[in-house]
Amino acid sequence: MNYNKKTVKDVEVSGKKVLLRCDFNVPQDKETGAITSDKRIVAALPTIQYLLDHNAAVIACSHLGKPKNGPDPKLSLAPVAKRLGELLGKPVIMAADTVGEDAKAKAAALKPGEILLLENTRFEKGETKNDPELAKAMASMAELYVSDAFGAVHRAHASTAGVADYLPAVSGFLIQKELDFLGGAIANPKRPLVAILGGAKVSSKIGVINNLLEIADTIIIGGGMAYTFSAAQGGKVGDSLLESDWLDYSKEMVEKAAAKGVKLLLPVDTVCGDSFAADAKSQLVKAGEIPDGWQGLDIGPETMKLYCAAVADAGTVIWNGPMGVFEFPAFAKGTEAMAEALSKTSAITIIGGGDSAAAVEQLGYASKMTHISTGGGASLEFLEGKNLPGVACLLDA
Ligand code: 3PG
Repeated sequence: MNYNKKTVKDVEVSGKKVLLRCDFNVPQDKETGAITSDKRIVAALPTIQYLLDHNAAVIACSHLGKPKNGPDPKLSLAPVAKRLGELLGKPVIMAADTVGEDAKAKAAALKPGEILLLENTRFEKGETKNDPELAKAMASMAELYVSDAFGAVHRAHASTAGVADYLPAVSGFLIQKELDFLGGAIANPKRPLVAILGGAKVSSKIGVINNLLEIADTIIIGGGMAYTFSAAQGGKVGDSLLESDWLDYSKEMVEKAAAKGVKLLLPVDTVCGDSFAADAKSQLVKAGEIPDGWQGLDIGPETMKLYCAAVADAGTVIWNGPMGVFEFPAFAKGTEAMAEALSKTSAITIIGGGDSAAAVEQLGYASKMTHISTGGGASLEFLEGKNLPGVACLLDA
């Protein structure tokens, strides 16, 4: 996939109506609906501000949640419009629908330097089906399409990809930054390239492991998935998370890595607990020697040393998935040790979205990383080397 895309700076935006796809899929309090993190709104500001400063009329749009049956007031983007207005220091006009009468009238009346937010794109049934009629209707309100919704580029939806069939399409600064870092790390990494892969399940990381085995110099395995690898090597994993269907695959990957000369590091010791709980009793054992009744919940200190040494002289580190159950302080030490090691290395450090980003933020190391992706599923699919519809649809530079 070509990661070199035209951006807002490569086209004339002045005096134009610009349809801007953002990822305003923000977390909300279940009871009150209050936005619990405005990070995604903040991440969209540079592109919005650039467009407004350069005299464009901005018609912003986004999905929020997964509404199944049309409009759902709980998933209205109105709270996002309010927060965006506060951050921009100017009013954000809110449309009552996505491509209906109100949206069309407000888009038609919108002046350069003003911003309108359309209602949740998923209130339209055609959105997730990438319905060309919906894409056409959205495109008809504008003269240029800018996508800055990195978190949604893995979706081939009407507002993330379909509209690009009807309008010239370029990227905003957020997508550009993600493509520069993630794309750069995949296509042309400063070596050695070290990939740290964690998280609960091997099955959810197959694509990433397959792809990174082709490009990384070292792969570090941690988290719940390490126990399937351990069992595949004949280790005892007690009551740890185990995916029996993936034992053969894990074995093959270890063999494949050896054949390709890729260093594949597995834990040498494990902190296990007598239950999956924050206050579980814990003990340290050698990897592959977890007693029955106990489950692996974090990497041990010898593994931490081994893994931290591997990132110390890396050129690029990509991290996807925590090393243990970092939500429980007693089992967060492995993840914290990796975050600290990454904060000290001179390597380019790239954190995949989702859990790894949450871990780095929660543990207070976010500002020390070169790049933290704003996409969860999107950054995973990026690391899998997949074609991302929301990127592919943008004009090549
Ligand atoms: C995300 O939160 O990862 C993106 O906004 C995509 O959301 P989705 O999984 O509902 O498509």
